Amino acid sequence: MRLGLLLLLACLELGEGGGNGEWSRKSCQPLTVRQRYQEEVCINTDILLSLRNTSQTTVTTCTAASKLRIASTMEGHMKEDILSKNQSPEAETCSPVVIDNVRLNGPALNINATESFLHQAMDIIMEDAVKKATDVREKVCEWRSPEQLKELLDLELKDEGESETEILQRCRDAIKYSVKTTHPRFFNQLYAGMEPYSMVASFITEALKPSLYTYEVAPVFTLMEQAVLKKMIEVIGWEEGGDGIFNSGGSLSNMYAVNLARYHHSPDIKELGLSATQRLVLFTSQECHYSISKAAAFLGIGTKNVYVVPSDKRGKMIPSALEELIKKAKTEGAAPFMVNATAGTTVLGAFDPIEEIADICEKYNLWLHVDACWGGAALMSKKHRHLLKGIHRANSVAWNPHKMLMACLQCCAFMVRDKTGLLQRCYSAQASYLFQQDKFYDVSYDTGDKSIQCSRKPDAFKFWLMWKALGAKEMEKRVDRALAMAKYLTQEIEKREGFRLLMEPEYTNVCFWYIPPSLRNLPDSPEFWKKLHEVAPVVKERMMKKGSMMVGYQPHGDKANFFRMIIISPQVSKRDMDFLLDEIHNLGKDL
Ligand SMILES: Cc1ncc(COP(=O)(O)O)c(C=O)c1O
Repeated sequence: MRLGLLLLLACLELGEGGGNGEWSRKSCQPLTVRQRYQEEVCINTDILLSLRNTSQTTVTTCTAASKLRIASTMEGHMKEDILSKNQSPEAETCSPVVIDNVRLNGPALNINATESFLHQAMDIIMEDAVKKATDVREKVCEWRSPEQLKELLDLELKDEGESETEILQRCRDAIKYSVKTTHPRFFNQLYAGMEPYSMVASFITEALKPSLYTYEVAPVFTLMEQAVLKKMIEVIGWEEGGDGIFNSGGSLSNMYAVNLARYHHSPDIKELGLSATQRLVLFTSQECHYSISKAAAFLGIGTKNVYVVPSDKRGKMIPSALEELIKKAKTEGAAPFMVNATAGTTVLGAFDPIEEIADICEKYNLWLHVDACWGGAALMSKKHRHLLKGIHRANSVAWNPHKMLMACLQCCAFMVRDKTGLLQRCYSAQASYLFQQDKFYDVSYDTGDKSIQCSRKPDAFKFWLMWKALGAKEMEKRVDRALAMAKYLTQEIEKREGFRLLMEPEYTNVCFWYIPPSLRNLPDSPEFWKKLHEVAPVVKERMMKKGSMMVGYQPHGDKANFFRMIIISPQVSKRDMDFLLDEIHNLGKDL
């Protein structure tokens, strides 16, 4: 046995010292990665067993299975000190490399040993987070209060790790108590539904963990991002092309736009800061997304320098009011620099008149940004793209494929018409440790310096793969279907007693009140609206506790709480529309 051990150790030293780790130390044959790992762990396990047994007269036989079991326990629990505790004099003279009590031979984590855990976890994901979550007979949510959920989830993090079985149960629980946003009756947000191709792309990117700053670490996804941006730019109608970057959210895209427009207006700001310019003012409608005012706060512009342009009854910016405000800012001595037009507002789904706004922007030399995060999807449809007429005149566009087009979260493109490298000039920091100019390949593919992020997920892949699978034609059909479904729901609301529309929808935001029988005979008075204001929150509470569906409500301006129904997914059918109205009535008829 001792001779065997010495031979093994000699072989091990040879393997390490000879720098030829890809060759078997036992058979002197080339190894696959998996074999390499298994052999190295087994060799180390042999050593451990031998070391343990040197004080004994009999030697226990070490079967392959027991070796692997021990190996897996070893790395699973990372007991680096086991060697030092069991070291014998022989081990010291020809021992593995140990520094600061840490054994350095062989990997300390065996990914192969976690293979069965991954398989089991994938089964749970498939069963609970995909199949069950999208099954219309299942609940949309398993509501618990924060206190109950804290208790159920045992959130405290401890010094010792848990067993695989416990961890798998934690996975099940995490899924069980999460809202199933891919459920056909989740109508609560501007995203919904399950898109299998995009989901697989997400899994792949999570498994590969690439970061999209340089071509060298993300060659495939860098090219895919470029391909997706090129196509989206084509769809927008920028015939000369453009530039862009995917980033983690439409809010961030809007911030990119505000900063880029400001840089375009006053490039010195990048180096000299805010003192390099006069008071800057931007314009947006009262219906815009809140990220515009957040951007103004975040970028030091100031929320009071966001001039809010009134919208008409349908939620669209009034161009003449925009012009009046621009003139006002000028007479105040401020510098107007940008207009944000929204294509698909968050609550009402309204589209600002881009063509007329673009005329004004040209007249006053202002940057036109179109926030098409929500409504951009209509560009895919020949029938509905007129909603964004004039978008090709914008200087920049934000568009989230993760909303109406159902790419997995997050998938958000910020695009600019400029082709002179404005985006790069505005955002680059030229870090020499990432963006070396003397690399062996064309460094124009290192696109990450256009981003304000350093690490960045390859979100474009989630859209690229589904586009490849579905083609633009299928996406067009989906958009058309969602808008047709919104029309059906609108007609049903108009027909049914106790339901009242806020307005005819322009997109798939269908906004309406439910009036319970007790209020139906009241006159349209402040008292009626006060009472009606209290209905939606109660219905919402009941639907959440029952888990039957999720639909949002909100007050809006002077309007009492109303439901905002969002239609996106092709999983949804007419039956779900009927269910929605029946269920609201059932939950609220006693109020
Ligand atoms: C019109 C509009 N713009 C921007 C955003 C922000 O997008 P994200 O949620 O990706 O930050 C939203 C979100 O709903 C939106 O409705």
